[in-house]
Amino acid sequence: MKQRIRYRHTDKIYIDLKQRGYTDDQGKIDIDDLLQLDQWHYNGTEPVEMAIDKLCIREGDRVLDVGSGIGGPSRFLARATNCNVTACELLPENHDVGVDLTRRSGMDNSVITHMCGDILTADLGEEYFDGIISIQVFFHVNNKAALFKRCFDLLKPGGAMYIEDFYRTKDINREEREVLTEFLNSTDDMATMMETRGLLEDAGFTGIEEDIPAAYHCAHVSGCFCRFSSG
Ligand SMILES: C[S@@+](CC[C@H](N)C(=O)[O-])C[C@H]1O[C@@H](n2cnc3c(N)ncnc32)[C@H](O)[C@@H]1O
Repeated sequence: MKQRIRYRHTDKIYIDLKQRGYTDDQGKIDIDDLLQLDQWHYNGTEPVEMAIDKLCIREGDRVLDVGSGIGGPSRFLARATNCNVTACELLPENHDVGVDLTRRSGMDNSVITHMCGDILTADLGEEYFDGIISIQVFFHVNNKAALFKRCFDLLKPGGAMYIEDFYRTKDINREEREVLTEFLNSTDDMATMMETRGLLEDAGFTGIEEDIPAAYHCAHVSGCFCRFSSG
């Protein structure tokens, strides 16, 4: 799986930073400059703001960012709310850039903990989380049942999860499936919204809210925003 979802643009952020005058590889970076470059999803920081709002994230909350990429959403979240973020990222090369950018933007105090590992198996400590956010990650993970169960088990009772993800809107043939897999670096068995809802309920989630923005629609898949509560 690591081979399949390897990102081709991990180091691009350093090129972008140089173009903005950050020529010292170890130098400090203004977080406001960084936030324009480090969000690996659509619509900049908007989804993270939505997550903060939907989950009512407050100072001191423990929040898990699943598939944190190079740490963009985690840094925004920590700065906006002063919550404690655990940024879990599968690929070491993304994780390493995330750690470096967090340090260079002066956010390497206790509010962000970077953790490299697969969300299904990573050691995330003993304490439960008040909230989980995950922006455009879940479509990479094959075993959705295990993924949702793991997330449910990581939440405190009453905790909630906010995800932005893609889902399949119709049946597709093998050729279309290959295109989709290649295009999205996704798993080849992308779930429909109905299947996703069933799997979430099986894991124990309740209060499932969906919002499907038109901007994300394409022929076979759509994106959606979802909030789930662990009841
Ligand atoms: C499209 S990027 C989004 C990154 C980040 N959420 C953001 O919006 O900036 C998806 C990320 O999920 C990570 N990922 C995929 N599967 C994962 C897993 N099983 N556990 C942890 N991270 C995973 C990928 O390595 C990648 O960095």
